[in-house]
Amino acid sequence: MTRLEHIGIAVRDAAAVIDRYERLLEVRPYKAETVEREGVRTHFIAAGPVKLELLEALGPESPVARFLEKRGEGLHHLAFEVDDVDATMARLRALGLQPLSEEPRPGADGKRIFFLHPKQTYGVLVEFCQSVPTPLPVAEVVLAGRPQAVHYLGDPAAPAVVLFTGAAAHPWAGLEPVARRLEPFFHLLAPADPLDGDDLPALIDAFEHKRAHVLALGAGAAPALDAARIHPERVSALALVEPDLDPQRPLVGLPPALLVGFDESPHLPPVALFGLHTAWPGAALAILPGPGLRPMPADLDALVAVLRRHLGG
Ligand code: CO
Repeated sequence: MTRLEHIGIAVRDAAAVIDRYERLLEVRPYKAETVEREGVRTHFIAAGPVKLELLEALGPESPVARFLEKRGEGLHHLAFEVDDVDATMARLRALGLQPLSEEPRPGADGKRIFFLHPKQTYGVLVEFCQSVPTPLPVAEVVLAGRPQAVHYLGDPAAPAVVLFTGAAAHPWAGLEPVARRLEPFFHLLAPADPLDGDDLPALIDAFEHKRAHVLALGAGAAPALDAARIHPERVSALALVEPDLDPQRPLVGLPPALLVGFDESPHLPPVALFGLHTAWPGAALAILPGPGLRPMPADLDALVAVLRRHLGG
């Protein structure tokens, strides 16, 4: 499905623009990235499901410098995300449109991109992009006396979210698209191996957070609840997606909790989720469309929206 992914804005003085947008939206950029071959430095600001991409020229030869000279600061391009950027390029060529490059090229923010000339799109440069799986940065943290790999993503100043996957049934690598959508709002910490509830403080200490939200997927719900029970002062809120839990387990005295299920889930049918919710009346409940986490929610925007609403990102 094609969706507006970001709006590119050409700027002369990114620091001044960032300062102004901070006043307007009360957010700072969650990421800055230099793309040498395009001659730009980019700054990404989260604005709901769509991002702003501030574009600064690295030198006078940069296409952004030429744009600024000709048209001044302002709207530079609209970027649409597609599932298959090569197929989109071929489809547009078949319609007689001419992309600005022979092939999609690597762009900022883990994307492959191409542009259509504004002459072909009524005055606005149009980008098509596709997210490509890129390795997430990883740090080594000592947990339970042994070094363990922890993937991290997002702004370290943003609220921390610790991911509990519980078992190999929800390999973190497969959830990268979810992580990328949450990246603008949170500092995501995802241990490569299932995390024990008891190890939460050591993990968040290592990343210099005092507290963290806990996001659990499937079988990760049980250790996530352990973490909240053993270390209530370190857990701000709990979000359990397709929780694999014993409904007889007492669920009292926990931080604000959200249960998320999917209406076509073969693993946790809505009726089972209602059962859990009955045992946990204080929790918020969200049922989203589609088959659920495995392989991937049909509507990532909806999942991210309910998680942000609960976790306050
Ligand atoms: Co762009």
